[in-house]
Formats: sequence, structure tokens, C-alpha cells
Amino acid sequence: MNGYNKMDHVSPSGSPPLYTPLQGKTILLGVSGGIAVYKAADYSRKIRALGARVIPVMTMHATEFVSPISFAALTGEKVYTDLFSMERAETIPHIGLARSADILLLLPATANILSKAAHGLADDFLSTLFLAFPGPALFFPSMNSNMYAHPATQANIERLKSFGYRVVGPDTGEMACGDQGKGRLAGWPVVKEAILKAINPQTLDGIKVLISAGPTREYLDPVRYISNRSSGLMGYAMARIALRRGARVTLVSGPVSIPAPPDVEFSPVETAGEMEDAVLRLSQDAQIIVMTAAVADYSPAVRAVQKIKKGVPKLSLDLIQTKDILSQLVKDRKDRQIIVGFCAETQDLRTQALRKIRQKGPDLLIANDVSQSDAGFDVPTNRVLIVSPGGDIESLPLLHKEELAERIWDRISGLLHNLS
Ligand code: CTP
Repeated sequence: MNGYNKMDHVSPSGSPPLYTPLQGKTILLGVSGGIAVYKAADYSRKIRALGARVIPVMTMHATEFVSPISFAALTGEKVYTDLFSMERAETIPHIGLARSADILLLLPATANILSKAAHGLADDFLSTLFLAFPGPALFFPSMNSNMYAHPATQANIERLKSFGYRVVGPDTGEMACGDQGKGRLAGWPVVKEAILKAINPQTLDGIKVLISAGPTREYLDPVRYISNRSSGLMGYAMARIALRRGARVTLVSGPVSIPAPPDVEFSPVETAGEMEDAVLRLSQDAQIIVMTAAVADYSPAVRAVQKIKKGVPKLSLDLIQTKDILSQLVKDRKDRQIIVGFCAETQDLRTQALRKIRQKGPDLLIANDVSQSDAGFDVPTNRVLIVSPGGDIESLPLLHKEELAERIWDRISGLLHNLS
């Protein structure tokens, strides 16, 4: 997906700080036998890159699609396949594994493993491990679309959900058998977010959050516009972390080249006027509003209906100031609403940030110097000041934008806590 790799976590040495949100976690990767086993091999590497220890558990059928040696090489772990081959007589492997792990993934989950799990059958290592595992388990179905649509499979999925398990996907598209339909294993961004949500404490559970992100475009004519270098990375990272903590997130976004996070309510806009309309409308029932967007301050007084022709040697533009959305939100603030602003500067960061928080009145202002090459616009890292209305300033070091978003959400949660 275009742009998504900007947030990837594997980076060569000497490059910006890595973000490893699964550091210290142990993930059991339960692989059952379908064509998507090769994707599970790829995901095992990606999950490991997020900092987790990944222990593969394969059904015998899964080993016919991809050798356990591949999983062992990708995860650096022993691969469990057979309930009865114990290496050490004093430990029962499925019990030991069930105790040691934070989460169990059934990925891919075939119709067969869904059926066995839904009915408590335990006739091999993976299905036995599932029953013995007391923590959260996530199912990622993958199968032929007719098998998925079959009432038996659907009933099994409903039964697993009624036990409290999360079932993620499948996607719709072309499948290995050549059919089009619903049955493809969920893509990596969806899988990643589901794991991170399952691991994260739900500190924003059910809270309604509105986030604006990206640049706006102010049109001169049908083909030309004035804009800025905002990539949307910071606002999208704020949205992903809020979702991982259980918030219901609406994202109003200017044009960017990164995909909307899975499960977000997405409201795409182009101009500052459209952003103003969308944000003010959607702010009515939001408990927390985060204005990350780099809204244009000026817009052409006239938008020509046809393409402006070249001719005169010197052309002047008449620009009109746009409405300041953040100030308006503060003026219209609802009871117990928390409003957070951002601030992009190229000089005098502290002075300008203190001026802006006084002038606009948000509960926090996140200020960054966008003239630095490793911070601000269009890079995966940022270095910010968190400014409070009283003038307190917390200075954060250079961090991956997702880690920064975590720190910012920690501060916002503190404000939320003070309200209750
Ligand atoms: N903002 C807004 N509406 C605008 C302009 C900015 O809501 N028309 C918000 C931004 O989303 C951000 C904050 O105001 O949360 C500060 O934006 P920034 O661009 O740093 O400052 P400006 O107010 O635009 O001032 P200047 O360009 O003079 O620095």
C-alpha cells in the first residue's frame, strides 16, 4: 500500500528510533493448513520485528504447505507440531506454552480449526493448546468463499464470538482457487492493529475521539492549488493509538498517500472550508478532539472556473484568511470536552507555542519544529514539546511517531482522569 511502509518498524542501523510496541510479549502463532500459510510465515517475521517473541505451533496439515524449518528460521524458535513428542518428560508442552504466552493467534484459521475450537475438540497440539490457553485468542479465517459462507462455518464463528473471541477478516478479493469472494486472510495492517489492540489496556474504551490530519488544498482553478508538506503521518498515528486503546475514532483527513487505519470512521476532505465544516459538525458529540491537521491559513479569494491562462508577465494572487477551526472549537466547547492543538514552527518554538496556546485556548498544545530533517513533515519520527495552558513544557526526545502518539495519549488520558 502506497506510503504505509513509512511507518514500518524494521529499519537499518543508524536510522531513526525503532518502535517495538510488542517488546516483552510472547505470541503463540497457531498455524492451520491452508494456502495462506505462506502469509503466516511473512507475518511471523513482521510480528517479531514489532519486538515480540513469536512461537509457532503448526497443525500437521500446515506443515505440508510450508516447512516448519521456514517458521523456525523466521522466528528463531522451536516449532511445535505434535502433542505426543515431548522433549522433556517433566513438562507437558501445551500447558507450559499456554502459561508463558500473552496472546494466541489462529492464523490462518481454517474452517476445520474454527469448527474444532467452537466445539472444544482437542485432538492435536494446536486445538489442545487453544483449550488450555487462558488469555486472549484471535481468529483470522482464510478459506474458499463457499466454505466461509457455509452456515456451519458462520455458526462456528458466531459461537466463538459468543465465547468472547475476536474474529478478524476475512478480506474480499481473488483467492488461490481463482474464485472471487470473501475468504482471503486479512492483510498485514489489519492483522497488526488487531494484535496491538488485543495487547493494549483499553484505557480509552468507548471514548469518542475526533482527529483532523493532513494538509488542505486551496484551489486557484480546477488544476492548481496551494498546499503544504504535511503527510498526515502524525495524525494517523494518533488515530491508530487511540483505536488500539479502545476509542471510537473519527478521522477527518486532507489528501494524503497513506491508508486510513482499519476500523476508523473516515471523513475525507480537501479544502480548509471542507475541513471546517466536517470538524465542526463531527465535534458535537466528540469527547476528545485532536487538531493535527495543517490547515491552510489563506485561500484564493476567487477560484477560477477554467484553467488560468498564462499571458501577463507578473501575476498576483488575492488570498483571504481561512477560519481558525481550533479557536472556534474552543469557543464552542461542549461540557467536559478535551481539545488538543498542534503547532508547526520553523523558529522560536517555545515562544510561539506559548503564544498559540494562550491565543487559541486548547487543553494541550503539541509543538514541533518542522525545519528539522528528522522531525515534523513527511518523516516517521518527530521531536515535540507538550505545552500546558499554565505554561508548563514537557520536552520529548526524537521518537517514532507512534511512540510519540502513545506519550501524547498518556497525557490526554491524564486530563480525562482529572475530569472524572
Ligand atoms: N488550525 C486551525 N485552523 C486554521 C489553522 C490552524 O484549526 N485555519 C489549527 C491547527 O490544526 C493546529 C493549530 O491550529 O492545531 C496551530 O496551527 P499552526 O499551523 O501551527 O498555526 P497557525 O495558527 O496556522 O499560525 P501560523 O501559521 O501563523 O504559525
